[in-house]
Amino acid sequence: MFKFARYMFELKVNWVSFFIVILVFAACEHQPKIKLGDLINKTPVDSTNNGTNCSPDTVYFVNEILPMITSNCAQAGCHDNITQAEDIVLNSYASIRNQVKPGKAIDSELYREIVNGNMPPAGSMTQEQMDKIKKWINQGAKNNFCNSGCDTTLFTYSGSITKIINTNCIACHQSGAVLLNSYASVKALVDNGRFLGAIKHQSGFQPMPTANTFLSDCELKKITKWINSGALNN
Ligand code: HEC
Repeated sequence: MFKFARYMFELKVNWVSFFIVILVFAACEHQPKIKLGDLINKTPVDSTNNGTNCSPDTVYFVNEILPMITSNCAQAGCHDNITQAEDIVLNSYASIRNQVKPGKAIDSELYREIVNGNMPPAGSMTQEQMDKIKKWINQGAKNNFCNSGCDTTLFTYSGSITKIINTNCIACHQSGAVLLNSYASVKALVDNGRFLGAIKHQSGFQPMPTANTFLSDCELKKITKWINSGALNN
């Protein structure tokens, strides 16, 4: 017995460091890491209807959901590749698909966080955006896209350009140093060449909407035409 007590005493220093290590770990683990992907029954991606003409009753991942989520959620400091807040990255079909249960929007973490107002932290999405996400999940959360028959002869500011900006850019540019929330602020960036430089990923400009993504060819054409015809507030 005496031997055992002495043995424990000699180990005292080690016991102290052992508890310090435990405490440090407990302090770092301040938030549970959600790994929703493990809970979801992974069904194969249904790629039917890919690339056909857009149906007004369907919500398409590539056309609408990805740009909306990337611009709202994949920002630096949030769920981008570098930051990976809560271990969740939201910049691809696979990663977004991991946060939803196809057919069950109300059981999907992604949708619940958004309607409960927890995400995105910078300000909630519009009702229209939330409804789109809900519909896309309830339609099976497919990796689908459609050919919008994009008409490059339509390129007015109010009809086309604001829609492109609202879908792809506004989440990051309604406050801060670079504003895109009014005609005047957009026009100023057009006039100093930064708007085109950024969306064409030209050197010397920050690539927009992200370093890895371009606007679609059709969107780039519309913007270029609008700028070449005077970037009017039309
Ligand atoms: C994920 C967030 C995010 C999205 C989406 C985004 N931007 Fe940006 N953008 C930034 C940040 C951050 C900067 C750096 C300046 C700042 O801090 O405001 C920036 C800078 C810019 C600049 C100045 C570039 C330069 O080098 O002078 C332009 C122009 C711009 N963005 C346009 C756009 C347009 C147009 C879109 C949509 C097609 C877009 N951005 C989408 C985050 C974003």
